[in-house]
Amino acid sequence: MKTQLDSILQSAEREITSVKNIHDLLQMKSRFLGKKSELMQMMGQLGRLPAEERPEFGKNLNITKNRILELLENREIEIKNSNYATSLQTQATDITMPGRPFPRGSLHPITLVWQEIEDIFISLGFEVAEGPDVEDEYHNFDALNTPPDHPARDLSDTFYIEDDVLLRTQTSTVQIRVMQQFKPPIRIISPGSCYRNENDASHSPMFHQVEALVVDEGIDFTHLRDILNIFVKKIFGEEIDSRIRPHFFPFTEPSAEIDILCVKCYGKGCNLCGGSGWLEMGGAGMVDPNVFDMLKIDSEKYTGYAFGLGIDRIAMLKYKIPDMRLLFENDIRFLRQFKI
Ligand code: DAH
Repeated sequence: MKTQLDSILQSAEREITSVKNIHDLLQMKSRFLGKKSELMQMMGQLGRLPAEERPEFGKNLNITKNRILELLENREIEIKNSNYATSLQTQATDITMPGRPFPRGSLHPITLVWQEIEDIFISLGFEVAEGPDVEDEYHNFDALNTPPDHPARDLSDTFYIEDDVLLRTQTSTVQIRVMQQFKPPIRIISPGSCYRNENDASHSPMFHQVEALVVDEGIDFTHLRDILNIFVKKIFGEEIDSRIRPHFFPFTEPSAEIDILCVKCYGKGCNLCGGSGWLEMGGAGMVDPNVFDMLKIDSEKYTGYAFGLGIDRIAMLKYKIPDMRLLFENDIRFLRQFKI
C-alpha cells in the first residue's frame, strides 16, 4: 500500500508540474483527487483493513492527499503568474498613444450674459447682492408698496407654496432685504431667478432678472438715465440707444419702462420690434418714499433709483434666440453653439 501511495505521488508530481494551463490543471485535480481516483478508492477501502493498520495507513493517505493539493495550488500560481507575464508583454499599453478626447462643455447663454452684466456693473462701482428664491409676501409685495388687492398677488400670477410663502416674482425683493440690512449709501445689483405662472414663446415660468438699487443723498433721475445708457451700450454696443417711457410700478415714483433701440432694424421697424423700432427691457424708477418709510430710511435725506431688467431677454437679443423655450430645453445641439 505504501509503495502504491508513493507511486501515485510520483506520477502526480511528474504530471502536475508539466501541465501548461488552468483547464488541464483542473482535469488533473479530478484525476488524482476526484471520486474515481485511485487515491479516493484506497480511502474507501480503509474500513476493510485490520483495525491496527488503519491509523497508520489513514495518516499516509492524508499526507499524500495534502501533498497533491499543495502541488496543484503551487502549479496554479505558477501558471497564473506566467500568464500574467505573457499578457504584460503581448498586451502592453502604448503610453505614447494620444488620449481619448473629452468633449469640452460650454457655458449656458444665460450664464454668459449674467457674468457679463455682473462685470459691467462691478466696473461701475456696484456690489452684487443675493436674496432667496423662496420668499414671503412682505418682501415680494408689502414692503414693495404693493396693496393686498393688487392683481400680481393672484394665484394665477404667483406660485404660492403655502399662505405667505411664495416663489419670488421679481428680484425687487432683494432691494428690501438690502435696505433692511445696510444703511445708505447703497449701490447694488442682484441677478437671480424669478417665477411666474406663465409659459409661452416669450415667457417662461422660471426666468431671470437683474435688479439694481442705488440709494444716497442727492440721487436723481438723471443718474438713473445715465447708468442705463452706459449699461445698454456696454452690453449691446455703442449704436444701441435706450429710452424711458412713463409707466407705473407700486414701489417707484415716478416710474418708467426702459426700451432699447431694436437690435435687428436699428429703429426702422421690423418683425422683432413689432414695427416700433424699440424693444422693452424692463422697469425702473425713483424709490417711492413709502418704501423708505417702511424700512426706516429717512426719505427727506435720501433718494434712490432702482431698475429691473430681464436677463433672458438680453441673452435672446444678444444671441438672436427666437424662442425663450430654447433657453430651458437643454438641447445639447443648441447649447454647443455658445462655446467661447
Ligand atoms: N420688478 C419689476 C417687474 O418685475 C421690474 C422693476 C420695475 C424693477 C421698476 C425695479 C423698478 O427695480 O424700479 O416687473
